[in-house]
Amino acid sequence: MNKNESEFFTMKGYVEHTQGLTASMEDYLEMIYRLSESGGVIRVSELAACLHVRPPSASKMSVILKNEGFLSFQKYGYLTLTEKGKKAGKYLLYRHDTVHKFLCLLNGSENELEQAEKIEHFINAKTVENLARLTENLKVRKKSQNS
Ligand code: CO
Repeated sequence: MNKNESEFFTMKGYVEHTQGLTASMEDYLEMIYRLSESGGVIRVSELAACLHVRPPSASKMSVILKNEGFLSFQKYGYLTLTEKGKKAGKYLLYRHDTVHKFLCLLNGSENELEQAEKIEHFINAKTVENLARLTENLKVRKKSQNS
């Protein structure tokens, strides 16, 4: 099992935590997880800036995510992910990175964020898993062709 496959294997149990989320909820959770990786607590204003939305929108969505058990609020507008939120966020970020890596390899570019942001919402866990595997295989093949 290569690193990518084993990464997904641990991710599989996390997928269930993303059931029933809207695309917008997924975007928020993905970003909150990304931000939480480099700190822990996140300011609503910071979240809004990263997602290019107005702070009231971010705060409205934060309440929804809190009610769904993904987030908890600390004092002074800080938020943290619950265990459920961490698991969902981890999978969503993995899914994002998988789609992005594939598109970059496919198009020979460094940045395919716009397309990745759109596509990621429409593929299921099986496709994510296979896309990760395909990307790894293509990379290995490319490497051996170049050497
Ligand atoms: Co994304």
